Amino acid sequence: MLPKINPIETKAWQKLEEMYFEFEGTHMKDLFAADADRFEKYSLKFEDILLDFSKNIVSDEVKTTLFELAEECGLKDAISAMFSGKKINATEDRAVLHVALRNRSNTPIIVDGEDVMPEVNAVLEQMKGFTGKVISGEWKGYSGKAITDVVNIGIGGSDLGPLMVTEALKPYKNHLKLHFVSNVDGTHIAETLKEVDPETTMFIVASKTFTTQETMTNANTAKDWFLESAKDLENVAKHFVAVSTNAEAVSAFGIDTDNMFRFWNWVGGRYSLWSAIGLSIMLGIGYDNYIDLLDGAHTMDKHFSETDFDKNIPVILALIGLWYNNFYGAESEAILPYDQYMHRFAAYFQQGNMESNGKYVDRNGEQVDYQTGPIIWGEPGTNGQHAFYQLIHQGTKLIPCDFIASAINHNKVGDHHPKLLANFFAQTEAMMVGKTEEQVVAELKAASKSETEIKELTPFKIFMGNIPTNSILVKQLTPRVLGSLIAMYEHKIFVQGIIWNIYSFDQWGVELGKQLANAILPELNNDKKVTGHDASTNGLINAWKEMR
Ligand code: F6P
Repeated sequence: MLPKINPIETKAWQKLEEMYFEFEGTHMKDLFAADADRFEKYSLKFEDILLDFSKNIVSDEVKTTLFELAEECGLKDAISAMFSGKKINATEDRAVLHVALRNRSNTPIIVDGEDVMPEVNAVLEQMKGFTGKVISGEWKGYSGKAITDVVNIGIGGSDLGPLMVTEALKPYKNHLKLHFVSNVDGTHIAETLKEVDPETTMFIVASKTFTTQETMTNANTAKDWFLESAKDLENVAKHFVAVSTNAEAVSAFGIDTDNMFRFWNWVGGRYSLWSAIGLSIMLGIGYDNYIDLLDGAHTMDKHFSETDFDKNIPVILALIGLWYNNFYGAESEAILPYDQYMHRFAAYFQQGNMESNGKYVDRNGEQVDYQTGPIIWGEPGTNGQHAFYQLIHQGTKLIPCDFIASAINHNKVGDHHPKLLANFFAQTEAMMVGKTEEQVVAELKAASKSETEIKELTPFKIFMGNIPTNSILVKQLTPRVLGSLIAMYEHKIFVQGIIWNIYSFDQWGVELGKQLANAILPELNNDKKVTGHDASTNGLINAWKEMR
């Protein structure tokens, strides 16, 4: 279904390796000095989004060869395979169709001989009806009061997406108060339940499988807490809805399947905010804003699937990332939004990237002998500047960074925004140009330091620069823009997974953790010493039994 090409055996990869050795010492300052039009040539505009990728250690030749690599690895066909519903998630025998969930053009997409769009549209209508009633107050709780609070119970993709989006789109929020419970640590649900009233709270149990230990434990605790006040099991229907692919388990939990919002096994958990998993988003910002979010993603999908590689934003971001990951040996990438509303954006794409491309087995079932997915991390600017930027500027690791900012802030407070943006512009400039010995000496002289002091201090104040950054400047963080940004990063992950010859849409590594915890749990329910594990695990479990 997908090509199974070892990327390092392609002609382009070999060319890139040679190029890297010639290019390694190149400083971006020289690339800018040699080409007055570098910004124009190395930036792209898409609707209200400007991507400046000029501050990267790439030349025209490197760029062209990266495009050749994508061609040789069959990227074009892979994109068509995903968009046309082919079962590209081969280890689970599933199609990968988050793009169908936001297919606002409504063109048919066929899976197993059937167009999925009528079902997608039907669930959207169901969500519209339900959210409309809850938001307007027409939906009443068991004692006749309107709903004031919504608690989304889910984990991973069934939590991070809705949480990240509802935080990012707070300016569009209505009166409903949203809460998110994910952790199996009882503290999470306990602290949340302290804030809500059973008479006016709606619980959304969001779980694709409806078997995830954390979610089911939290959902049962919420139901018990609710029934302490509501008494009658019949009242559950007014306060619990489910989002799942598993109708049987939903019914067994006691939720009326009329209050179930379906999605399909061709939606990956970490790509599911566009499905009914987005119910909490729609409750928080309303149907129209949610549709704007889908529209934004759809326009990016069209851009990605229809644009030549040399103008294709997700393709360019993916190839630049791969250049550092596989040739410069960069181990991580930072996502740094200069927008407080986007404070969960890096965490969201930590799952998006690392669960998708954290794989060492290729599509031939062979162990790879090249690097795959990078470590993704980040925090909003300017907070990060006062925490970890030191290591980016003067540490020993190369950390390519994406800087994201909005031209217009939703909150016009004094001169905060120019100050925020001054930092945004200054950081990428500093990372690129650095500071030379001559500049440091001149600064120290100007500060009237003695010759000895200048000699001693100079090495510590030199910045080599040449740290690659992408700057993504959007007009304003609207639902449409956010939708496009999320889709842009999703497709970046896809492109990289295709070139690395891995399957990006399964997550067997996570499944292992689920199995192991389930095996240990029964051993914790008694005081018997355990002996069946390795010495460390036995020791830890037995120590806990003594401490508790
Ligand atoms: O973390 C692993 C994972 O399988 C994610 O892919 C998924 O988003 C999450 O668990 C939650 O799974 P579910 O929606 O089935 O509860």
